[in-house]
Amino acid sequence: MVRAHIITYGCQMNEYDTHLVESQLVSLGADLVDSIDEADFVLVNTCAVRGKPVDKVRSLLGNLRKQKATRRLVVGMMGCLAQLEEGQQIARKFEVDVLLGPGSLLDIGAALESNTRFWGLHFKDELHDHIPPAPQGKLQAHLTIMRGCDHHCTYCIVPTTRGPQVSRTPDSILRELGGLLAAGVREVTLLGQNVNAYGIDQGAKLAGMPSFAELLRLVGRSGIERIKFTTSHPMNFTEDVAIAMSETPAVCDFVHLPVQSGSNAVLKRMAREYSREKYLEHIAQIRRHMPAAVLATDIIVGFPGETEDDFQQTLDLYDEVGYDSAYMFIYSPRPGTPSYKHFADLPRELKTERLQRLIVRQKDWSGRKNAAKVGTYQEVLLRGDAHDSGFLEGHSRGNHPVVVPKAVGADTAGIYRVKIGHATPHMLYGNIVGPGGEALPELPRLTPEAVAAPLMML
Ligand code: SAH
Ligand code: SF4
Ligand code: F3S
Repeated sequence: MVRAHIITYGCQMNEYDTHLVESQLVSLGADLVDSIDEADFVLVNTCAVRGKPVDKVRSLLGNLRKQKATRRLVVGMMGCLAQLEEGQQIARKFEVDVLLGPGSLLDIGAALESNTRFWGLHFKDELHDHIPPAPQGKLQAHLTIMRGCDHHCTYCIVPTTRGPQVSRTPDSILRELGGLLAAGVREVTLLGQNVNAYGIDQGAKLAGMPSFAELLRLVGRSGIERIKFTTSHPMNFTEDVAIAMSETPAVCDFVHLPVQSGSNAVLKRMAREYSREKYLEHIAQIRRHMPAAVLATDIIVGFPGETEDDFQQTLDLYDEVGYDSAYMFIYSPRPGTPSYKHFADLPRELKTERLQRLIVRQKDWSGRKNAAKVGTYQEVLLRGDAHDSGFLEGHSRGNHPVVVPKAVGADTAGIYRVKIGHATPHMLYGNIVGPGGEALPELPRLTPEAVAAPLMML
């Protein structure tokens, strides 16, 4: 029997795909093991969006090649990097046996059966109707509603790795959701590179397909308690999405709307297809329909040609919106993208220095926004405690990470009311409250002294 282990880099799409391939492996009779050492088939699910994740894959594959010399081990590479010439060169160098691009995941069975090197790089239609079994024992799950991307942001490799956009049918999405509900899932995150363009593939509205706003309403009627989604592209964001969000109780009022830059000149070179003004209009629409909306964004610092004035406009836009959180990236030139080919990279020190300044701004805003939550009640989905630390970790409806001490009557995973007592820029801390608003008593904490005491008595 094959003992398989998958290591995942990259975004939630990749996590979803790891689950998909793991469930295929199980249905083929493989055993999933928890570490590389126990496995005789190791698959690396790769990301190519920036240089760093590529470097990590390189060093892991180097390591695995060494292990191959000492024991029976089949090494595979899947995901975005696998689709690129760059990734295939790496695969050859490190003697990778199995290579599966993001569109060929269902070839895993053929790959396992093959006695020679197996490379699957074709986009197969079956993938779009494929419904992986629900993850077991999880309250939160991802659900991919579309694959690929039709945009051509000049810095981005994703359209090359994941191909053009293909939306899944609402029927297939709702069937998958039904399975998740039956397995006890209470929060679902709808995934796509650009969920606002759902149902509009390669520029054409697909006959009979709902818009993203309509899909939100459909999913909202399924009985799932919390719905989140990522990512929204501002260009395809329409007011009816904000309205559908506000009118669908299950949809969390959390919006992740990547702006990338606050300067129109930079947005133009990025080919983002919206202006700073248009973006701010969308923010105003969101706030009009959801005054309490929690806002997150992605920002790329040091895009080629970014001047001090351009960067200042990004900082100003940050203040104008007042984001709750942000993913901030230093521009990373990716071979195969237009910006790599046509524009010169800025000096490393300049990019790093700007990132530092942006982080200061982000920390300040996140600190203020989180501090305003102190004293409020948040509905928090707490995951099971993996580390037996006496604490439970989870997320609010606004996607804030929250930590609470385990409490009597609420010491396992679930959705709880939490009164926030303390906040840092990255975390909310609180206590679980009972149905009547009373604080539940904390479980006795296992302190080092408590552990050491019986030993000292011996
Ligand atoms: N489809 C999503 C994001 C996909 S990639 C969207 O358009 O919103 C996730 C984030 O990585 C992007 O939002 C961008 O901020 C960042 N990113 C993509 N390519 C990058 C590059 N070459 N260098 C640095 N950051 C990059
Ligand atoms: Fe990349 Fe742009 Fe597509 Fe997002 S929308 S994946 S940034 S090309
Ligand atoms: Fe990375 Fe591919 Fe996701 S490049 S960010 S894993 S879409």
